[in-house]
This record gives sequence, C-alpha cells and structure tokens, in this order.
Amino acid sequence: MAGEWLAYGELGLAAAGFVPFGIHRLSCGSWINEKLECPEELSGLEITILLPVWNEELIIEKKLSSLAKQNFKAHLLVVDSASDDSTIEKTKTWLEDFPDCFKSWKIIPMAERKGKTTAVGLAMEELSDYKGIIVMTDADASMLQGSLERINRWFSNPQIGAVGGTPIREGNLGAENQHRELYTMLRVGESVYDSTPFLEGSLIAWRAGCVSSSDLYYSSNADDAQIATAARLNGLRAIQDPELFFTDQMPLTAKGQRRQKVRRAQGLIRLLVRKRKFWFSKRQGRFSKILRRNAWMHIISPLAIVGAAALAVMRNIAYFPESALMASLSALEVYCLASWLLARSNKSIIGTKTAGVILCGLENLFAALVLSGRGKSLHMWQQHTDVREALSEK
Ligand code: GDD
Ligand code: MN
Repeated sequence: MAGEWLAYGELGLAAAGFVPFGIHRLSCGSWINEKLECPEELSGLEITILLPVWNEELIIEKKLSSLAKQNFKAHLLVVDSASDDSTIEKTKTWLEDFPDCFKSWKIIPMAERKGKTTAVGLAMEELSDYKGIIVMTDADASMLQGSLERINRWFSNPQIGAVGGTPIREGNLGAENQHRELYTMLRVGESVYDSTPFLEGSLIAWRAGCVSSSDLYYSSNADDAQIATAARLNGLRAIQDPELFFTDQMPLTAKGQRRQKVRRAQGLIRLLVRKRKFWFSKRQGRFSKILRRNAWMHIISPLAIVGAAALAVMRNIAYFPESALMASLSALEVYCLASWLLARSNKSIIGTKTAGVILCGLENLFAALVLSGRGKSLHMWQQHTDVREALSEK
C-alpha cells in the first residue's frame, strides 16, 4: 500500500514536470503556423558589428574575413577582455591590411577579463549615442551570406527591437539535431505569438538605444537572453527569425557540450528569476505567459522530475513488485533511465531519442540550479579549445 502512495507522488511530480512542457510545445506548434514576415525594404539604418573576444588567435582572421564577405558594409567594434594570446595584434594587422572591408573599426581593450556580459555592457556604453543597429556575433560562429542585409530589413518594422538567428550546429553529436529542432520551434513559436526571451549571442541584433548597459547583469552569462528580454520589456518585440541562419561548431565531446549547456541553463534561470515580477504582469500581456511558462519549465520542472526519480528509486527498492500495475510503472522507469543514459553518451535506439533529449535538458537545468544554490557563477568560462582547433583546420 505504501508503495502505491509513493507511485502517486511520483506520478504527480512527473505531471508537474512534463505537462507544462507539453502544453507549451503544443501552443508553439500552433502559433508557428502564422508566419513572421521580414519587410522587403531596407531600414535605412547603419549596422555596427559587435565582436566580443577573448583568446581567439586561432580563428580571429577567419572570422574577420567571413564578416567582410557580407554584401552589406558595416562598422566594426571589437571588445577584447585582456586576451593573453595574439588576438589583438592579429586583429589590428588584418584590419590594417584590408582597410576597405568595414566602414570604420575600433578595438576596445579591457585591462582585465570580467566575462562576456561586462564586455557587451562596455560596448553599449561606447555606442550610447549611436542610432543604428548593433549586430553581435561570436568569434566561433558564422553567418550566411546576405544575413546583414536581412537583419537590416527587419528593423524597417518599428516594432522590432531584437532579432536573433537560428542555429545550424556543426559537428553534430547524437541527439543534438533533435534538440535544436525542438528548441527552434519553441523560440520561433514564441516570437510569432509575441516575443521570445531567449535569443543566441552567436547572432543577435538589436536596435541601439532600446537596450542599455543598465539592463545587463554583469555577473551572469546569457547576455543574449538578457538583451532579448530587455528589448521586449522596454516595449519592442524580440524575435527569432527562422530564415536567418548561423553555423556554430559544437564542443567535440559530450562532456564539453554538457558544460556549455549547464552554463547557458544557469544564465537563463537567473534571468527568469530576476524577471519574476513580470511572470504575472497584466501589462506585459502575452509575454508574461511566455515568461511564466519558461520559468516553470526551467525551474520547477527539473526539481519535480528529480523528486519523481527519487520516489521511483525508493519504491523499487522497498516495494517491488507490489502488483502488476506497479511492475509496469517500473518498466516505464527503466525506459526513461535507458533513454537518459543513452542520450547522455550521445547514443540512442529507436524510440528513446526525444525522451532522452528532454531528460538530458532537465539534468542540465538541475545541475545549473544546484550550482546556483551553491553560489557558483559561470559567467566566466574556460574556453572550448577543441572548437577553435577544429575551426582553424577547416
Ligand atoms: N570580451 C570578452 N570577454 N569576450 C568573451 C569572453 C570574455 O570574458 N569570454 C568569451 N568571450 C567571447 C568569445 O571570444 C566568443 O567570441 C564569444 O564570447 C562566445 O564564447 P564561447 O567561448 O564560444 O562560448 P559559447 O559557445 O559557450 O557561447 C554561447 O553561450 C554564451 C553564454 O553562455 C553563446 O551563445 C554566447 O553568445 C553566449 O554568450
Ligand atoms: Mn562558442
């Protein structure tokens, strides 16, 4: 009998963990049927490319030449956080060798590394009188030809505050594609309905002036999501464009990928917690629903699922097999466990992929919550050097 109570508790927690996710997935699946229309005409605004860098000597020249190939001429602002390799020298030499590639360029050298968000805040201060579009991109990501022009066109719609690209991950491991498709659908669905709070810094553009350095939390990462959310809370829309692509080389090991995802998860969780007064704010209209649901999925869901797993372990150890029904619940648990462990090592067998991806996502969120609980901030991270090496050999 006690085993049954444990089963009820477990099922209740599992429902609390998964049902909101299912609801949001269904909502986004229906919102996405309407399309986001990118305006035909250019906005007439200038573009400044913002490139925050730290120790990128292996790939900086490639990055600059790929930016120079865009058919839209822009200004360039590089913020270097005290790289201890030859990033600054290489950047300078390249820009002096090819003086016509950008309308103008500037390098801001910081005396000390304080994390990417601080570097972005500094750039915002530098550009405080600027009236154009800021396009931020990572050194290890690249945008497709025509991207700057497409971004520029978006901003001829005066309601648009921020636009983000859609990732094409390279060096895909295991379930990563599935993971991306799912998240792209959520982000684009949210964008159609109102705005998405989560854009990616690999390629994100915003209207200068609609976000300022005071909107940023310097000791947190996910600068990109902070910018998207601030643009929306300051009255404009933040959207992910499903036809604006960037490629992004993933860390080569499952461990490296997990490290990156836990860091990102922590940035998103901290942002959602900081914006908690908007979860139920009528003034924010549809956006408060998006924030509220994401807060549930990023904070409550991982706790609920870990709780459910703990009850499952207790039940199986103490009361197995109390009845046929309980034995079938145990079979379901074994399936979840197998899906999670397979996805964790980037493997899958038929029928385990989606479950594995979701469970790994929850694991990363839980790890991020635990780290936050212990007061460990991930806003300055060790570089994924394997990514740089792979890119420099391409
Ligand atoms: N100025 C500066 N200062 N730039 C930095 C610093 C820093 O302390 N740390 C990293 N960067 C730069 C890198 O040089 C690169 O251009 C970009 O920030 C992204 O860094 P990666 O090392 O490639 O990190 P990632 O791939 O995990 O980044 C993803 O997550 C971050 C948040 O956790 C991307 O989505 C980033 O845009 C996002 O900021
Ligand atoms: Mn990267």
